[in-house]
Amino acid sequence: NTLKIGMIPADGIGREVLPAAQRTLEALGSSIPKPEFIPLLAGWDLFQKTGTALPEETIRTLKEECDGAMFGAVSSPSHKVAGYSSPIVALRKHMDLYANIRPVASVPGQDGKQINMVIVRENTECLYVKQEEVTTLPDGTKKAIAIRQITERASSRIGRMAFELALKRGQEREINPSASFWKGPPKVTIIHKSNVLSATDGLFRETVRSVKESDEARYSSILLEEQIVDSMVYRLFREPEIFDVTVAPNLYGDIISDGAAALVGSLGLVPSLNAGDSFAMGEPVHGSAPDIEGQGIANPIATIRSTALLLSHLGHTEQAARINQAVNSVLLEGRFLTPDLGGKSKTDEVIDAILKKL
Ligand code: NAI
Ligand code: MG
Repeated sequence: NTLKIGMIPADGIGREVLPAAQRTLEALGSSIPKPEFIPLLAGWDLFQKTGTALPEETIRTLKEECDGAMFGAVSSPSHKVAGYSSPIVALRKHMDLYANIRPVASVPGQDGKQINMVIVRENTECLYVKQEEVTTLPDGTKKAIAIRQITERASSRIGRMAFELALKRGQEREINPSASFWKGPPKVTIIHKSNVLSATDGLFRETVRSVKESDEARYSSILLEEQIVDSMVYRLFREPEIFDVTVAPNLYGDIISDGAAALVGSLGLVPSLNAGDSFAMGEPVHGSAPDIEGQGIANPIATIRSTALLLSHLGHTEQAARINQAVNSVLLEGRFLTPDLGGKSKTDEVIDAILKKL
């Protein structure tokens, strides 16, 4: 009885934070099946060395041998490089990890913004289909066009994922009301801009709505709201406590989750789970952070919380809760914090402190 986890550190601080996932799973001892770690390759550094960013072998191993996976971060150049395309975007597609679940929560008892929400980001389409084209106009100036794809299929399954998550959070709130700031019924907020983009965002909005309408028996308790993406940002910054579950097309979800991360103090705190119907992969929301790479000061908490998300998805909810409690108590104590949170601790010292609580 083992838990086979594919480990893909990839680039930059991804390599510095991913060991936190392994150490956390090992620290749980016999309360989970014995974890087995399978190191896998991907990334920009790999591309520069070998000409491939995501080897076939990595995908094959994930599909055939792993129960789940953890991903670090990739570096992607801001300019086009022939033959290169982001391996994380490709992985999400290959493994059909169509939902990116991003809980953003402040620590109960700590000063600052009160926030405990989940951003459910569609993970496979929108502008991330990357069908772009640059042409030259008759006057010699350039014009660039990008295709934004929204399908009923992808919008409907992400909608269902959001509603299911809202029900689950509602149940958790009944057991532990202090766990979140939103006190009402399970709530899902659709993020869109269908006042302007009526075809694409319109389809997203209508499809998510119809998921609830077509299964009223199951979802009648859910309060369904919607928010246009720009005013969503405004409300998120002013009164984040009103949000429970939000569901968004790919690009909006990407941007909003980095914004929400600022409200809880650091990108280094925010975890995510890339989830499909048959596979899941934990991944901190942050990137490869070249500005702090190699200093041993990357915050490992986003990775540790992503590990908890993966465990919970695999059915080990109690162990996941224990991990989150250990993280919260280290954050509340404030003795071991990395510099992004105003502390002086190294990555390893924060991991040590959390595992000691565990
Ligand atoms: P970033 O998320 O890497 O960094 C943004 C800021 O947050 C930086 O100041 C960084 O030092 C800080 N930060 C991020 N994670 C941290 C942590 N764990 N501890 C302490 N501080 C942390 O975003 P940036 O700088 O825009 O992108 C850098 C590279 O990462 C780019 O090549 C980009 O393409 C890539 N990227 C990859 C992602 C992924 O792998 N899923 C997501 C976002 C960016
Ligand atoms: Mg992002």
